[in-house]
Amino acid sequence: MEMATNKKPGKWKKRTLAVRGGQVRTPFQETSEPLIFTAGYAYETAEEAEARFKGESPGYQYSRIANPTVTMFEERLAQLEGAPVARATATGMAAVTAVFLAGLKTGDHVVAANALFGSCRYVIETVLPRFGIGCTFVDGSDLKAWEAAMRPETKLLFVETPSNPTLSIVDIAAVAKIAESRGARLIVDNAFASPALQRPMELGAHIVVHSSTKYSDGQGRALGGAILCHPDFLDENLNQFLRNTGPSLSPFNAWLHLKSLETLELRVRQHCENAMKVADFLSHQKKVTRVLYPFRPDHPQHNLARAQMDGGGGVVSFEIEGGKSAVFRCANALQLIDISNNLGDAKSLFTHPETTTHQKMTQEARDASGVTSGLVRLSVGLEDTDDLCEDIEQALKVA
Ligand SMILES: Cc1ncc(COP(=O)(O)O)c(C=O)c1O
Repeated sequence: MEMATNKKPGKWKKRTLAVRGGQVRTPFQETSEPLIFTAGYAYETAEEAEARFKGESPGYQYSRIANPTVTMFEERLAQLEGAPVARATATGMAAVTAVFLAGLKTGDHVVAANALFGSCRYVIETVLPRFGIGCTFVDGSDLKAWEAAMRPETKLLFVETPSNPTLSIVDIAAVAKIAESRGARLIVDNAFASPALQRPMELGAHIVVHSSTKYSDGQGRALGGAILCHPDFLDENLNQFLRNTGPSLSPFNAWLHLKSLETLELRVRQHCENAMKVADFLSHQKKVTRVLYPFRPDHPQHNLARAQMDGGGGVVSFEIEGGKSAVFRCANALQLIDISNNLGDAKSLFTHPETTTHQKMTQEARDASGVTSGLVRLSVGLEDTDDLCEDIEQALKVA
């Protein structure tokens, strides 16, 4: 199909890329990106079909393999991340799983930080060993531990930074160097920061994974994920794996996330401002024994967070005195903030990780990743912080 004229992309800055990156117009010259909601594509001739399958003629074949709306989302996200290429997936976990299964074989070994989302830990600790792939978990902040865990067969290193839900920070550049020196690749799960705050590939990470369900969507509507990498990993590992196993993103979800990227930076900046205010407020509450927020000076890795991130993010974690029962009393007293296990929404969401997102982990794994009984993960939304603080204050009274 002859595409309508597009003005040539120049050396655009991030804000411009967020709004226009990757856009392709149909002959209708629509201003808003089209939602191409189709499973298949027609060919003018049988010869054309053959040529497309041989890769000798450009164009789409089947939406499990690629779709124009999904491609626009991939291109825009790659431009914002400063990544050479991106592939979208149905969820963040589909992205995490696909990277491991596409990048590893029996006998390989993975090193991962202890502080991980429960499902990420499950894939590494439970799924991979079934295929004869070993794993070692380390304290992500301990560079010597990373070095010591490396084996000749180590192929992939995995971190979340900031981590879910303890917001611990891993030095991306330093761990990427360790990976590189041993011929391995570092994967960074960038779900909490989003490309608005952190671009791991610019710091040396080899692969980035995303749950676009979170800040890319930003309004809690649709699931999605993405893998960003260099062309060698795409060509040698990922492309064939994705097209044949099919963890594809729906064009509709891609369209939502593509359009939401236009406002990502503006939204995330406000999330950060609100989260900082709520974190400061929490630090003065009697029943709150600990506040974790990467940009507060009392965060143990505050300097590192400031060095590799452009903002502290929208999530604040804190501990309430009295453990699970106190957290439940507080949660049940909330009048505005919702109890939910999602995050990155315009609406503020209150999570008790021990009994929800991290419930299926062993106690030992929860201890290693800092998920205590009194820990709360608060995804601070875009509401007025006066209302949020008032709600938390009245709920803490009964905690
Ligand atoms: C750090 C992290 N990675 C991955 C995921 C999984 O994303 P999804 O729910 O889109 O599969 C989550 C979800 O909470 C997460 O917090």
